[in-house]
Amino acid sequence: MEPNDRVVVLDHPIVQHKLSILRDKHTCSNEFREIVGELSLFETYEATRDLPLTNVFIHTPIAPFDAKQISGRKVAFVPILRAGLGMVDGALEVVPSARVGHLGMQRNEETHQPESYYDKLPRDIASRRVYVLDPMLATGGSAAAAVEYLRGAGVTGTIRFLCIVAAPEGIERLLAADDDLLIYACAVDDGLNEDAYIVPGLGDAGDRIFGTE
Ligand code: URA
Repeated sequence: MEPNDRVVVLDHPIVQHKLSILRDKHTCSNEFREIVGELSLFETYEATRDLPLTNVFIHTPIAPFDAKQISGRKVAFVPILRAGLGMVDGALEVVPSARVGHLGMQRNEETHQPESYYDKLPRDIASRRVYVLDPMLATGGSAAAAVEYLRGAGVTGTIRFLCIVAAPEGIERLLAADDDLLIYACAVDDGLNEDAYIVPGLGDAGDRIFGTE
């Protein structure tokens, strides 16, 4: 895929090393879940790099000091059920004060089209800076539907979509669905197979996180 300034790929060696463990079909659910959490933490760290800062005057034990603190919109993480749940704890380690909204978008196994079956968002979601969490950006159908849903709920400004692995097809569809959106991924893979799984991918992320294979 051509480089795109709306797609940030975390090419850090530790990220790539951990991603290889996720990809390995012999990795057990326990370790898989742990690494999804770690990668989510790294991604959230990267995706919050541009949080605005303001000055705050404090006293260190040694001297008065003009320190920095985060200002601006509060943060909301919105995992797409079910696999997105695996990313929540890692994201909250970076922004513990964030609110968490849930969106249930499930893929119809025959049509591969997204179907909404659950939503519960913070009441003030419209005024928050929103990060959507879903480990696999495959066709982009659920992701685009989730972003559309959030816009409908009043979310303004840049929505950041955090995934572990993305397919070029999903990236294209999601970027086309919204003008003010950034994608963060640990890898952009080759594409999709006939069952809409990412190749080489890592299999069904939800099943591997929750041990339901
Ligand atoms: N969802 C997954 O969990 N894995 C894929 O490869 C595609 C969609």
